[in-house]
Amino acid sequence: MSTPTSNGSLGNGHTHHAHNHHHHHGPLTAKHLNPAVLQASYAVRGPLATKAEHYRAHMKAKGDAHDLPFKSIVTANIGNPQQAGLDQPPITFFRQVAALTEYTPLLDDPRAQDLFPADVRARARELIAEVGSTGAYSHSQGVPAIRQHVAEFITKRDHLTPEHASDPANIFLTAGASQGVSLILQVLSTKTTGILIPIPQYPLYTATLAALDTNALPYHLNEADDWSLDPQSVEDAIAEAHARSISPRALVVINPGNPTGSVMQKETMQAVLDICAKYHLVLLADEVYQVNIHDPTREWVSFSSLARKSPTEPKVAIVSFHSISKGVSGECGRRGGYFELLNFPADVTAQIYKMASVGLCPPVQGQIAVDCLVRPPTPGDESYPLYEKESTTIARALKERTETMVRRLNALEGISCQPSTGALYVYPQLYLPQGAKDEAKKRGQEPDEFYSECLLDETGICVTPGSGFGQKEGESHIRLTVLCPGVDEYVGRIEKFHNAFMKKWE
Ligand SMILES: Cc1ncc(COP(=O)(O)O)c(C=O)c1O
Repeated sequence: MSTPTSNGSLGNGHTHHAHNHHHHHGPLTAKHLNPAVLQASYAVRGPLATKAEHYRAHMKAKGDAHDLPFKSIVTANIGNPQQAGLDQPPITFFRQVAALTEYTPLLDDPRAQDLFPADVRARARELIAEVGSTGAYSHSQGVPAIRQHVAEFITKRDHLTPEHASDPANIFLTAGASQGVSLILQVLSTKTTGILIPIPQYPLYTATLAALDTNALPYHLNEADDWSLDPQSVEDAIAEAHARSISPRALVVINPGNPTGSVMQKETMQAVLDICAKYHLVLLADEVYQVNIHDPTREWVSFSSLARKSPTEPKVAIVSFHSISKGVSGECGRRGGYFELLNFPADVTAQIYKMASVGLCPPVQGQIAVDCLVRPPTPGDESYPLYEKESTTIARALKERTETMVRRLNALEGISCQPSTGALYVYPQLYLPQGAKDEAKKRGQEPDEFYSECLLDETGICVTPGSGFGQKEGESHIRLTVLCPGVDEYVGRIEKFHNAFMKKWE
């Protein structure tokens, strides 16, 4: 989906349903599948990631005798902090609470007093009293006490007055933000409505909308202005949808941005809320990177806090998503997250609850990690000093790596990189020579796919090509995560590769 405005891979209603009824009784092949599923693509786990895994397996099998021109694989393609090779350590508090809630006899073992801080033991007892066994299904919306804690977290985070306080009845715990996003997209999607999505975007949105055979309505972010959202581009996308007889139903905003790393300004957010009010759009606020802010002058605020404090007329229905996978916890594999519904009519909430209940419940250990996320140790708790040290160490490393990468990439000929003030990515634009573009075309690749594959083959660094996130016709980008330790060494590899590549194809 290199040019999301000009081809059908966004599930824009032009999917060609193959006339394959002759084959219905033959042996199963991919062409018998749901055509909408065949349309979906998800670049962050695409062919380059697979090739990188092959290289890794090859190096492991051959040891020092491998014949690859690099000494390690650098997985810079996906925001998965604890993955092998990235090795971001888990926050101890999260794992201690998980251990005690998972194997409860430890709670009554006298040795636990030496192994686990008092606040961890108290938290585990409290949670077990609410959850019961982690091996049992919970309430489909999530354990009520944990939802209560999420609501208290939102109320405190956003400094809400009692009249605006978050209500646990509107909190849904999920198996990561992804599951919440796909649940909401499923509930909102029809053949004739569409969902406005930013370009570039995290491909969860395009992939899910394609699989639902509904309409993704792309609006372009403004790269030259720090990847900001220009309200006019949303208006343009809405007009374009109307011209195709599609009614926009919801607007997705990712803040801080993936892949852009941009943190939205309050005035822009207010303009977004105004557009949503004007067109009765549900605002889907993907806020999973809310604590990954690298520029202390850029304050992150939630959309729902703005909507509560300065409500539009009519009020905007908002779903805000959060996750245990990002931030400093990085607990991607535990699958935990939540969404909060604001200003939703009761009949819609009831349908969302119905669909959540079809999935029985979110993973209970994921829910427990959400509790840790929203109720971390506070000053005075035995765990607090370690928690504080671990989280600031991670945040500092992310910030320093981000700054180093942006600075050194910008120093290269043929690359320009906007500052990344938030999230876990840098997203430089590449100005590739015509020779490279011609070669890519010959190989049936987008120019940035070709560049990324050469980068992987020659340096072992795996990135995600911009064509996977959507970009304007003729542009090339790559997304790199800022999660890899040893940044100076591998940025050095990129510099060497890039200069040689530009020279070779000029
Ligand atoms: C913008 C955005 N939203 C949602 C997710 C999903 O995260 P999870 O399902 O692990 O919570 C990601 C993961 O990278 C993301 O980047």
